[in-house]
Amino acid sequence: MPTTDPTTLVILGASGDLARRMLLPSLYNLDADGLLPAALRVIGVARGAGDAGRWRDEVREGLESRCDLDSEVWARFSARLDYCAGDVTRADGAACLKGAVGEGGASLIFFSLSPSLFTAACETLRAGGVIEGHTRLVLEKPIGRDLETSRTINDAVGAVAAERNIFRIDHYLGKETVQNLIALRFANSLFEPLWTSQTIDHVQITVAETQGVGDRWPYYDDFGAIRDMLQNHMLQLLCLVAMEPPSDLEPDAVRNEKVKVLRSLRPFTRASAPVESVRGQYTAGAVEGEAVTAYLDEVGRLTRTETFVALTARVDNWRWAGVPFFLRTGKRMPERRTEIVIQFKPVPHSIFGGAAEADLVANRLVIALQPDEDISLTIMNKRPGLGDIRLQPLPLSLSLSRTLGEDGGRRRIAYERLLLDALRGDQTLFVRRDEVEAAWTFVDGVADAWDEADLAPRPYPAGSWGPPGAFALIERTGRAWND
Ligand code: BG6
Repeated sequence: MPTTDPTTLVILGASGDLARRMLLPSLYNLDADGLLPAALRVIGVARGAGDAGRWRDEVREGLESRCDLDSEVWARFSARLDYCAGDVTRADGAACLKGAVGEGGASLIFFSLSPSLFTAACETLRAGGVIEGHTRLVLEKPIGRDLETSRTINDAVGAVAAERNIFRIDHYLGKETVQNLIALRFANSLFEPLWTSQTIDHVQITVAETQGVGDRWPYYDDFGAIRDMLQNHMLQLLCLVAMEPPSDLEPDAVRNEKVKVLRSLRPFTRASAPVESVRGQYTAGAVEGEAVTAYLDEVGRLTRTETFVALTARVDNWRWAGVPFFLRTGKRMPERRTEIVIQFKPVPHSIFGGAAEADLVANRLVIALQPDEDISLTIMNKRPGLGDIRLQPLPLSLSLSRTLGEDGGRRRIAYERLLLDALRGDQTLFVRRDEVEAAWTFVDGVADAWDEADLAPRPYPAGSWGPPGAFALIERTGRAWND
């Protein structure tokens, strides 16, 4: 690993949506906070014609649509920006980029490209001297569409860079509350002794989005909810909840524990799939008061791609034996909400009689990630009053914004953290090859089981919580979603 600060960050796909909405605002914010290496240059690469001046204008416009620019920061940031128009899967494109990067190759290359171009881009950039032995490659998802295609990509990237220089992004790992899960579990003595099948009844992970698929349908229709959300973000959340304490926070210590969880996931079968999973696809409806069209109308033809999935994951190990993990994610849900619910078991014996006994509910820890960050534990209390004892659940809440106020700072874009870590060479929040492949093994198993059981997506109106089967899935076990 180089001991010097990175000097060149190349963004492949610089005119794309991710670069405009996430990467450049993140880099600007890091610069504003004085966190970018002084000599760092940011070289945008895209196929369209253009030059550094035009790109700087585009970047400026993009930033201004998000925030008030500070003229001093912008002067510093824009001086870092350079541009190269070219196709990096071709030798002439690589040569143009090499000219901009200079001797010694790039420090970091962010692949914000279609994964179908990864292999060719890696080979050409290596041959053209842009990728050198020290160059770090940052890869955006999707890393493949299944285990086989992800292996092909990983092989191609592995042929030009060592694993310690490959940074596979799952932007959920850059979210503050997701990292806070590690602090919650391992910086408090309170929870860890309770974090087992003896005390926990079940876990729920919900990632609900109000937006539909819209213009992204050509990508999305090939992937669907299990490949777009479950394979990465949701399984990463599950890993952080379920993993054993790592020996320290070294990247491999954490990633070793996550991969063990992924390998403990019980595979779906033709018999279990219809009982333990539900696929859905949104039809026309209304979300947040606005009429929206059906998925099929967005795509313009019949398709069996799911925009919603709910399933019961089982982690077959000592800690979690018998504890179901109910996972659900969907587009066009009634609200945007990402949360993890740890549902504890009820008290083993109630000393309360009469009405108070009926008041008793089991403790529940809700870790809300979006839209607001909050950690809240429901505790039973006595209702104030002189009459017969009655109980009520009250939340013990740690709202990050309320508790930390100004000191909590502004809410950062997940990519700020991830770009900074990649610049520093810290892989803890990036996904290792074996993790990606273990996650694909599980997801391929779900997809195969659906095919074998001929499980088609069930319709659900946009603005609802998915098809009725999603409720049946959890309710037939005597439990309910935290809605
Ligand atoms: C992306 C998916 O990885 O994550 C999108 O491709 C999804 O379909 C997005 O909308 C959700 O991210 P966030 O941070 O808005 O929850």
